[in-house]
Amino acid sequence: MPDSKPVKTVIVGCGMIASRGYQPRCQVYPHKIELVGYYDQDITRAETLAQNASGKVYQSLEDVLSDPNVEAIINLTIHTGHYPVSLAGLTAGKHVYSEKPVALRIEEADQLVETADAMGVKFACAPVAMLGSVQQNVWKRLRAGEIGEVVSAIGNFGGPIEYWHPTADAFMSNGVGPFKDVAPYPLTAMTTMIGPVKRVYGLARITLPERLLHAGPRAGTPYKVTEKDHGFGLLEFETGAYGLLYHSWTARSEIPPYEIHGTNGVFSIQAHDDGRGIRKCTPTSSWEVEDSPEGAYEGLDWGKGPADFADAIRNNRPVRCSGKHARHVLEICERIFESADKGVPVDVTSRFPAPAPVGEPTPWS
Ligand SMILES: NC(=O)c1ccc[n+]([C@@H]2O[C@H](COP(=O)([O-])OP(=O)(O)OC[C@H]3O[C@@H](n4cnc5c(N)ncnc54)[C@H](O)[C@@H]3O)[C@@H](O)[C@H]2O)c1
Repeated sequence: MPDSKPVKTVIVGCGMIASRGYQPRCQVYPHKIELVGYYDQDITRAETLAQNASGKVYQSLEDVLSDPNVEAIINLTIHTGHYPVSLAGLTAGKHVYSEKPVALRIEEADQLVETADAMGVKFACAPVAMLGSVQQNVWKRLRAGEIGEVVSAIGNFGGPIEYWHPTADAFMSNGVGPFKDVAPYPLTAMTTMIGPVKRVYGLARITLPERLLHAGPRAGTPYKVTEKDHGFGLLEFETGAYGLLYHSWTARSEIPPYEIHGTNGVFSIQAHDDGRGIRKCTPTSSWEVEDSPEGAYEGLDWGKGPADFADAIRNNRPVRCSGKHARHVLEICERIFESADKGVPVDVTSRFPAPAPVGEPTPWS
C-alpha cells in the first residue's frame, strides 16, 4: 500500500512569497504537506514563519539537509539562490520544489535535472498556475477540439516594475530580467497545452539602463539595469503552431495575458491566476464571458503545486510541474536572447515529459 502520510517539508527562503503565499496555502493541504521547519539566511524571517504555526527554525541549510526527519524542501529564496539551494537539496537526497525560474542559466538547470534523476528524487518547479481550474478546464476543451486546431498563442506579462516593487533592482540584474522572471507564466501554460517549442526568433534589449526605485523604503535610490528589460519572442512549436511573447518592465501593454487561437475559436484566460473567468469567441460569436468552473480558487493557489509534488512522492509517479519542463521554459528565454543578439532564429533543444492533466480525484483532495 502507498504511504499516505504527509511529506515532511522545510521552507527555505522565508520572504514575502513564503509568508503570504506558500505557508498559508500549504496549510490548506495538511494531509499532503507537513511544514516541519523553516530556514532563511535572515533567521528572524524563519522565526516569524515558525511563530505563525508549529515548526523548527533551522540555523543553516546544512542543518536542514542533514536532518533525517526532512523529506523535502520548498526553495523560495531569490532568483540567485534557486540553483545553489536546489542543487544542495537534491545532492543531499531531498525532494526539491523550487520557485521559478528553475535556475538562471541552462547549464545550471541541466545539472539540477541530472542530479534529481541520479539521486532518484522528485524535482518540481513553479509556476503551477496550470493546475488551476480555469486552466485545466480550457486545456481539456482544447484536447476535445472545441476550437479546432490550435494554431497560435499569445502571452504578455509586465509593466514598469520599479513603481510598485521595493526591490525592483534585484530583478534587473544578476541574470534575471522579465523574460526569466515572468515569461514562465505564459510559457508554461503554452508548452503544457501545445507542447514543446522547437525554434525562437527574439528581439530584446535594455531600454532604460539607469532607473530609480519609486516604491518602498529605498525609494529614490538609483540603480543600473544589466538585463534585457523589453522585448518580443516569436515561437515555433513542434506542432506547427506559432507563439508570441511580449515581456517588458518598461512599457505596459494591453496585449492579453494569455490567448489561444484555434481554427474554430479563441480562448482568452490568465496564465497566472485561477478564478478570473474564461473568455471565448468563435467565428460566429463575439467575445463571451463564462464563469470560472465551480470551486476555482480566486488568485494563484500556491499550495496546489506542493500538494501535487507531495502526492507524486507518495505515489511514485511523475510530478506535474516538473523541473524538466521548467528547464525547457528557461531555455526558450535564453534562446530568445541569443536570437536577439545574433539576429537569427535559434533552435530550442531541450524537451520534457508531457504533464498529465489533473483528473478526479484531484491530487490535493
Ligand atoms: N513576490 C511575488 O509576488 C512572487 C511571485 C511569484 C514568484 N516569486 C518568486 O519567489 C521567490 C521569492 O520571492 P519573494 O518575493 O518571497 O522574495 P523575498 O526577497 O521577499 O524573499 C526571499 C527570501 O529568501 C532569503 N534568501 C535568499 N537567498 C537565500 C539563501 N541562499 N538561503 C536562505 N535564504 C535565502 C532572503 O533572506 C529572503 O528572506 C523569487 O524567486 C520570485 O521569483 C515571487
